[in-house]
Amino acid sequence: MNEASIVFIYTCLLLLSTSNALRTRTNAIKEDEIPTTKIHVPLVAVKNSHHAYVYIGSPPQQKLVIVDTGSRHLVFPCQPCHQCGKHHYSKSYFDTSLSTTAISNKCSDNECSFSNIPSKNGMCPYANDECHFRQGYTEGSHLKGFEVEDIVFFGTGNYEQSIKVHLQTAVPFSFGCETAETGMIANQFADGIVGMISLQQDTVIDMMYREGAIPHYGFSMCMTSNAGTLSIGGTSLKHQHQEQMTFEPLKHGKYYSVKIKSFKVGDIEMKGNRKGFIDEVFNQGKGTIIDSGTTDTYISKAIEKEFKSAWKTITGGKFHNNAQNLSKEQFEKLPNITITLSSGYDWIIQPEQYMEQPKGKVDVKSEWSGTAQFISRIYVDEPEGAVLGSNAMINHDILFDVGNMRLGIARSNCDQ
Ligand SMILES: *[C@@H]1O[C@H](CO)[C@@H](O)[C@H](O)[C@H]1NC(C)=O
Ligand SMILES: *[C@@H]1O[C@H](CO)[C@@H](O)[C@H](O)[C@H]1NC(C)=O
Repeated sequence: MNEASIVFIYTCLLLLSTSNALRTRTNAIKEDEIPTTKIHVPLVAVKNSHHAYVYIGSPPQQKLVIVDTGSRHLVFPCQPCHQCGKHHYSKSYFDTSLSTTAISNKCSDNECSFSNIPSKNGMCPYANDECHFRQGYTEGSHLKGFEVEDIVFFGTGNYEQSIKVHLQTAVPFSFGCETAETGMIANQFADGIVGMISLQQDTVIDMMYREGAIPHYGFSMCMTSNAGTLSIGGTSLKHQHQEQMTFEPLKHGKYYSVKIKSFKVGDIEMKGNRKGFIDEVFNQGKGTIIDSGTTDTYISKAIEKEFKSAWKTITGGKFHNNAQNLSKEQFEKLPNITITLSSGYDWIIQPEQYMEQPKGKVDVKSEWSGTAQFISRIYVDEPEGAVLGSNAMINHDILFDVGNMRLGIARSNCDQ
């Protein structure tokens, strides 16, 4: 399986019905006041996916999970999983029997937090009074398991350092103990996934904020192609920003989505054949979502013709998603893709972000002789709206300021 092309792995659709009412939030912070935090952990990029270390239980067991702003649950395999992948990062699955603080959520006590339990005459339908769940991902993977609550915190790859520095942010949290997984999820390197959407259900971030472990209700992700920083409780990278952070309202809904005002390929603006075209294309339906668990960028099929025509005008060549060999001179002709948000911020996706090098790496900022192989990882085939995946997000510090229902964005160096 070509893992580089695993795209929609983690954007959960239709998963679990959500019931919590939207919490009310204030907009008390002024635009120029950026919520900051001192708490941060490294992001680890493997095969275009960005991971973080989470520690679970007492004593803590370390897992490496994909940080996903396109889903809402923390899940990974637990002992004894007979149908889970054999090649995950960790040598062994999470073992609840080794943790003195692990508690299985009880259905009859209404502790099932992933979904509404289909009750049979008011009775819990599952064996052992457990809270069972099933989850499907758009690319076809499935997993199932049961809910467990234990203490959880983010850390680094170094166990001792994580205990010393990060254990103080640990909070009790319900996660999914997988008993089976299929498809790409079973084959992936990551042990699991940590969903970061706080809009309708509690994530680890919600619990940390409520328990006073972090200063603000939010987090930021700043990714490079091979590393990055996850800030918890604000951003820890203000000193690294290369421009003023701009804020954009977050829309209420199932995903982190933003409103788009214009879309340009190079200097050519997509307009369609009528007024309001861009609004229709990008802001209706699921809209334009920011999804770190998707590696690539997907743009509505509605602008395919216009996009391809602009591409041709600018580069002289045809737009496609096959491997191609480019000289330095040809690469230099590739356009920036500029998405203007409702705040007026220009989110620029540069060729170095959307052109992947499947084989050897040339440094696109320096010269190279002959050609190097590239594949465009922008797809103009999305049924509606757009998915801005991790390749669109890299080299920006993106602050999910949930407490103020806004998204902060600034081009940034992503190293501490
Ligand atoms: C690109 O170059 C490699 C050798 O460097 C060659 O094997 C491959 O066929 C070329 N691909 C295309 C699409 O021209
Ligand atoms: C693309 O965007 C970058 C970052 O803003 C800028 O430095 C560069 O000049 C742009 N390239 C083109 C061809 O406009």
